[in-house]
Amino acid sequence: MKAWRVHRNGEPRDVMRLEETPEPEPGAGQLLVRVRAAAVNFPDALLCRGEYQVRPDFPFTPGVELCGEVLAVGEGAENGEGTEDTADSTDSAGTEGTGEVPAVGSRVLAQPALPWGGFGEQTLVAAENARPAPEALDDAEAAALHIGYQTGWFALHRRARIQPGETLLVHAAAGGVGSAAVQLGKAAGARVIGVVGGPAKAETARGLGCDVVVDRRSDDIVAAVKEATGGRGADVVYDPVGGDAYTKSVKCIAFEGRIVVVGFASGAVPTPGLNHALIKNYSILGLHWGLYNTRDPEAVRACHRELTDLAAKGAVKPLVSERVGLDGAAEAVQRVFDGITTGRVVVEP
Ligand SMILES: NC(=O)c1ccc[n+]([C@@H]2O[C@H](COP(=O)([O-])OP(=O)(O)OC[C@H]3O[C@@H](n4cnc5c(N)ncnc54)[C@H](OP(=O)(O)O)[C@@H]3O)[C@@H](O)[C@H]2O)c1
Repeated sequence: MKAWRVHRNGEPRDVMRLEETPEPEPGAGQLLVRVRAAAVNFPDALLCRGEYQVRPDFPFTPGVELCGEVLAVGEGAENGEGTEDTADSTDSAGTEGTGEVPAVGSRVLAQPALPWGGFGEQTLVAAENARPAPEALDDAEAAALHIGYQTGWFALHRRARIQPGETLLVHAAAGGVGSAAVQLGKAAGARVIGVVGGPAKAETARGLGCDVVVDRRSDDIVAAVKEATGGRGADVVYDPVGGDAYTKSVKCIAFEGRIVVVGFASGAVPTPGLNHALIKNYSILGLHWGLYNTRDPEAVRACHRELTDLAAKGAVKPLVSERVGLDGAAEAVQRVFDGITTGRVVVEP
């Protein structure tokens, strides 16, 4: 089979190689999956560069989320260790309400088990982390409903406890996790201000449902947020960018506001002044969504059910801006890292 592999760290377009590789064999508790669609995420570039919190052995295949078809079930995954998020969800995985692992032939979304990533024809996933792919979404959209939307949901509801009528400020609002946070903020009844880089992304953010859009290249973010909130500031900030985005956020955060630190796409990790947080009564909340898979897996399953329902109602729909064949994966990862894409670019092998 064909898969992209990384043999050394560097820029994605330099170190990702499309190769003929042996087909993976599912181990205990794993599923062998045919990749139908794999969404490109910023961490794919960090993996290539050796800058991600996980450093798989070489060679590895990037691609951290996918929608796929189950081809085979490994030993130990046959005894009901698998997905349980089926009770009241729109289920195309042949597992309705049973608590069993997805059946061979069913359509699932999952995070691949690195070093086997999603940018190949087949891969391996942990049976316990495979979820039924929502029927309301096509393969590319379903692949993109996972990490970005789970992260957005945990950030807004579990960490920031957002309330209807509050103002949510989303940085990189036209990007992958940002576009998901915009839709989830609107679904939660918030007023959403989106910050983007450039007029084309501003158009995308408006299309996603932002009530106010701020172009960080031409507008004064702090002044725009204050103007849009009658001087009060944003109640919740969703920040996947860090650096200047964070610096601006603390200047327009509301009394008892909550800033959720989601990522550092700018490459700059902020060093917050805790005296400032004290003086202005705001909270700085960290979020590493992946930890919930081990710390509170039931909450991840419940979130998937919620997202499936929202997708069925049309309240959320991942923005798939580009669909590329397997050949286009390295270039797509590079462009996401360079900050020039919107929504999700999805690889369809
Ligand atoms: N905490 C978690 O659990 C978690 C989960 C998933 C992802 N993340 C993190 O979330 C971040 C976003 O991931 P994503 O896949 O959704 O990417 P993305 O938002 O689609 O791409 C990054 C965006 O950041 C903005 N940006 C601002 N300054 C930039 C710079 N100097 N270089 C590149 N981009 C810049 C750009 O949007 P504008 O030009 O419009 O500003 C760019 O499109 C990443 O840091 C990722 O690691 C965290």
